[in-house]
Order: sequence, then structure tokens, then C-alpha cells
Amino acid sequence: MERAFTLFLLTILLLLHYVMTQTNITTDQLATLSLKSQIISDPFHFLNESWTPAISVCRWVGVTCGSRHQRVKSLNLSNMALTGRIPRNFGNLTFLGSLDLGSNNFQGYLPQEMAYLHRLKFLDLSFNNFRGEIPSWFGFLHQLKVLNLGNNSFIGSIPSSFSNISTLETLNLNFNSIEGEIPEVIGSLINLRVLSLYGNNLIGSIPSSLSNASRLGALDLSRNLLQGNIPEGIGNLHKMKLLSIQHNKLTGSIPFTIFNISKIEVIAFTDNSLSGNLPNGLCNSLSILNGLYLSTNKLRGHIQRDKQYD
Ligand SMILES: *[C@@H]1O[C@H](CO)[C@@H](O)[C@H](O)[C@H]1NC(C)=O
Ligand SMILES: *[C@@H]1O[C@H](CO)[C@@H](O)[C@H](O)[C@H]1NC(C)=O
Ligand SMILES: *[C@@H]1O[C@H](CO)[C@@H](O)[C@H](O)[C@H]1NC(C)=O
Ligand SMILES: *[C@@H]1O[C@H](CO)[C@@H](O)[C@H](O)[C@H]1NC(C)=O
Ligand SMILES: *[C@@H]1O[C@H](CO)[C@@H](O)[C@H](O)[C@H]1NC(C)=O
Ligand SMILES: *[C@@H]1O[C@H](CO)[C@@H](O)[C@H](O)[C@H]1NC(C)=O
Ligand SMILES: *[C@@H]1O[C@H](CO)[C@@H](O)[C@H](O)[C@H]1NC(C)=O
Ligand SMILES: *[C@@H]1O[C@H](CO)[C@@H](O)[C@H](O)[C@H]1NC(C)=O
Repeated sequence: MERAFTLFLLTILLLLHYVMTQTNITTDQLATLSLKSQIISDPFHFLNESWTPAISVCRWVGVTCGSRHQRVKSLNLSNMALTGRIPRNFGNLTFLGSLDLGSNNFQGYLPQEMAYLHRLKFLDLSFNNFRGEIPSWFGFLHQLKVLNLGNNSFIGSIPSSFSNISTLETLNLNFNSIEGEIPEVIGSLINLRVLSLYGNNLIGSIPSSLSNASRLGALDLSRNLLQGNIPEGIGNLHKMKLLSIQHNKLTGSIPFTIFNISKIEVIAFTDNSLSGNLPNGLCNSLSILNGLYLSTNKLRGHIQRDKQYD
């Protein structure tokens, strides 16, 4: 009897909690209107013509709602020349699966409340002016497949919490001011297909754990301050098509196994301090290679001139 009563009380409490924290399409409308209120320039009037409470939020420019829940599931404001900030209650858009704010002039810090956007699979904030440290709360976005923060003003180091995003397929942090070492745990992202960290201030060596990211098809670490050897295991990444580590401070020899990757199309190591011999008959084994960039190193060997090289 006592147990039944406790259960009854618990149910009531849970229900009460559910009612009090319940969100609906009105929540989404409030959150999107609050985003609009933070936009200080919209030169082509993309938002002020359709983003009004008089029209259902599901019919606003750039907004798509899910057919099942009738909640905002994607927001695409890319390339609209908008200037503004992301407000804190943007984190209330908990049904959001895709957010594309790329190629605008968004500024300021990403609010921590964005960590509540746990359904996000696609997040493109590239070509804006966001700043601050790369947030470690990205580690809470457990369904994220694409994260593109390229061409912003992010600083700090790559948080090791990124290893929590086991679904991650594309990570693009190009052209920011990211420092520190590439965390070893990045190799545990076994779904990673594209890793692009071009144009930052990364130091240390290339983590050997990357050889565990067996689906990697494109690795671009060019224009950083990376030192040490190219890990031997990179040659085991059989899906690799583009391998570019130009303008760094790499030393040692190029592991020959790299020239044996059957799918490889571009190998670019220009402007490092790589030394040693190139394998004989290099180009015979590279039937689909269309770019081999090795200049400004200390390499020796012969390359037949029927392939493009630099
Ligand atoms: C959304 O929920 C609030 C209270 O949580 C309620 O006042 C409002 O009417 C609801 N809106 C819709 C469209 O159901
Ligand atoms: C949108 O804003 C522009 C400039 O601020 C203004 O000229 C225009 O009338 C506005 N349109 C609407 C529908 O409010
Ligand atoms: C957003 O819209 C642009 C322009 O229509 C399109 O190129 C882009 O692929 C869209 N983004 C997403 C995530 O669908
Ligand atoms: C939305 O977010 C704000 C700030 O994070 C919060 O105060 C508010 O209660 C949230 N809920 C709704 C339904 O707007
Ligand atoms: C990452 O995962 C660990 C272990 O599962 C957990 O303790 C930590 O809170 C997570 N961090 C983030 C930012 O998700
Ligand atoms: C991206 O950033 C780099 C480095 O700051 C810059 O050279 C390049 O022009 C930027 N691209 C665009 C399209 O803004
Ligand atoms: C690759 O993953 C395995 C299993 O998790 C681990 O034991 C090994 O140390 C990893 N290799 C590297 C080079 O990190
Ligand atoms: C590259 O592949 C060829 C032919 O499959 C093989 O003979 C050679 O030993 C391989 N070289 C390396 C360094 O794996």
C-alpha cells in the first residue's frame, strides 16, 4: 500500500515536471524571434519581410519544420549578409537537426546554451566572425556529423571532449587562430572522413592515433607549426584521397607506405624539412595521382616527368 502511494506520488511529480518543462512550437517561435532581435543588419531584408509572429514560424524564410512534431528542425540562413549574434535562448530550439549560418557576419561568442541542441547533426558556422575559445560543450552534441567552424576568429586549443562526438564525419576548423597540439584522442573518431585544420597555429606532432581513423579520405593540416615525423600509420589509411601537410616544420622521411595508398589523388608536403630518398619507380604505383607537391624540402630521388609535380 505504502509502495503504491510512493509510486503514485512519483508519477505525479514526473508529470508535473513534464508539464513545467514542456516546450512547443511557441518556444521555437520565441527563440527564432529572439535571434531576429539580435540581428542588427539585414541589408537584403531576408528576415524582416517574413519573420513575423503573424505567420507560422514554419513558413518563415530559411525555416523548416518536421512533419511529425511540427517543431523547427532546420534553419538555413546561409549567405544572407546578416550581422548579429546568437542569443542564449537559441538553445531552446531543441528539435533542431541542422543549422547553417555560413557566410554571414555573425559575431561574438557561441552561447553555452547551444549545448542543449542535442539533435544537431549538421552545424555550419563558417565564414563569420565568431570568436572565443572553441567550446568544449560541442562534446555534448552526440549526433553531430558535420562541424564546420572555418574562417572565424576562434582561439584556444581543440578540446579533447571532441572525442565524445563519435558520429563526427567532417571536422573543419580552417583559418582560425587555434593553438596547442592536435589531441591524441582525435584518432578515436572512427567515422571521421574529412579533417581539415588548415591555417592555424597548431604545434606538436601529428598524432599517430590518426591511423585508427580508418575512414579518413581527406586530411589537410597545412599552414601550421607542426613538427616531428609523418606517422608511419598514415599509410594504412586506405580510403585517403587527399593528404596535404604543406608549410609546416615536419622532419624525417616520408613513409613509403603513403605512396602505396591505392586511392590517393593528391600528396602535398611542400615547404617542410623532410629528408631521405623517394622510392624508386614512385609514379608507377600511383596510377590515379594528379598532384604530387614535394618542393622546398631536402628530399632525394628521381621522378619521371610524365606526372605533374611541384
Ligand atoms: C505552448 O505551451 C504554453 C505553455 O507551456 C502554452 O501557453 C501555449 O498555448 C502552447 N502553445 C501551443 C501552440 O500549443
Ligand atoms: C525592412 O527593413 C527595411 C529597412 O530597415 C525597411 O525599409 C522595410 O520597409 C522593412 N520591411 C518590412 C516588411 O518591415
Ligand atoms: C542552405 O541554403 C544554401 C542556399 O540555398 C544551400 O546551398 C545550402 O546547401 C543549404 N544548407 C543546408 C545545410 O542545406
Ligand atoms: C528559453 O531559454 C531561456 C534562456 O536560456 C529560458 O530563460 C527560458 O525559460 C527558455 N524556455 C522557453 C520556453 O522559452
Ligand atoms: C565526454 O564524455 C565523458 C565520458 O563519457 C564525460 O565524462 C564528459 O562529461 C563528456 N564531456 C562532454 C563535453 O561531453
Ligand atoms: C578565409 O580566411 C583566410 C585567412 O584569413 C583568408 O585568406 C581568406 O580570404 C578567407 N576566405 C574568405 C572567403 O573570406
Ligand atoms: C588504435 O586503437 C586501439 C584500440 O582502441 C588502441 O589500442 C591503439 O593504441 C590505437 N592506436 C594508436 C596509434 O593510437
Ligand atoms: C607497395 O606495393 C607493392 C605492390 O603491391 C609492394 O611490392 C611493395 O612492397 C609495397 N611497398 C610498401 C612500402 O608497402
